[in-house]
Parts: sequence; structure tokens; C-alpha cells
Amino acid sequence: MSIIEENKTNPSGSEESKSAEPSRSCLINRREFLLTSGVATFTLMVAVKGLPAQTLPGVVATYPRKLIGKLSELKVDEPLDFNYPDENNYSESILVKLGTEAGGGIGPEKDVVAFNYTCTHQGGPLQGTYQARDKALGPCPLHLTTFDLTRFGIFISGQAYQSLPQVLLELEGDNIFAVGMFGLIYGRFDNLQS
Ligand code: FES
Repeated sequence: MSIIEENKTNPSGSEESKSAEPSRSCLINRREFLLTSGVATFTLMVAVKGLPAQTLPGVVATYPRKLIGKLSELKVDEPLDFNYPDENNYSESILVKLGTEAGGGIGPEKDVVAFNYTCTHQGGPLQGTYQARDKALGPCPLHLTTFDLTRFGIFISGQAYQSLPQVLLELEGDNIFAVGMFGLIYGRFDNLQS
């Protein structure tokens, strides 16, 4: 079984996720969520030769929790656009109900996913390239990379060698929230500092 297939059935790879049914559907478990998007404070020890050690407080920024759609309003193969994690460059993203189970998918069929629209190769725009037949995004207008939305956005042809950043989703009742991201958005050194 490949890493991708293994992750599709058990993204965390932990015993915890096999046995415990989460109260809300999400791509990652609670521990991983806290690692990737939780607010955390810490103390940094700074040592400079010849001077006493200094302690500096630090804060890790967190992803916003953003309402991006209603499950009941999504139709198979009819994508919606939204911006995440902010409204700045390269934040435009796609929310789509694929009609087939997907890695990281939420909802009763585990088929609702979201991805950033910016090609990981050289930033080509993928807006308007959703392929309903293959459940893919692409080909990129610059160098033809196509990404598989059923398998965590992995590239399936073209020049890119990194998967498309996937927006982590949570379902609360009928509301779909974006809560974090897997993968670095093209053009940013940090997803939260555009
Ligand atoms: S920018 Fe998309 S394939 Fe090169």
C-alpha cells in the first residue's frame, strides 16, 4: 500500500484515530490540529557569548476558523470559490463536492474537499480548470500540471513536484469551516504571512 493510500484510510496513522470516532469530521486528529494551527505561547532562551541568557516570550500564529459554505447547498462537481487563510495574494481556493470519497473529504460521503488554486510549480492560476470527469484541477495554463483532488492534491502530470495545498475542513451541523492548511501556498514563506 502506498503512503497516499495509507493516509487516505488513516491520515494520522495513529491507533487513536482507528478506534475513536471523532465528533466532527476533519482531515487531521486533535493532536495534529494543535500542532499545525493552534495558538501556542512559548519561552525562547537566547544566549549571547559573554552575556547572561535572556528569556523572550513568543507566540505562534493560528489559522482562522472561517465559514466557507453549507453542505446542503453544495452540488456534485459545482465548485465554489473562497479565500483562505486571508484575502491576500494566492489565497483563492476551491471548495467542491466530488461525488466520490477523497482523502481529507468531509460530509457523509467524505467527498467534500478544498484546495488552494495556485499551482505549486511556478504559481500558475488554476481557477476554472476543475475537471469533473477526473476529479482533478488542471492542466495549469503555464506548464500543464494537473492535480488529483481525491488524493490530497497530488500532481498526476506536468512540471510540479509538490501537491496542491489542501485546506483542512470541519463540518459543524450544515456549516463547513476552513480551519487550517496542509502544504505551503506558492509565493509565501509562511501561509499566515503573505
Ligand atoms: S506553473 Fe503550473 S505547471 Fe508550471
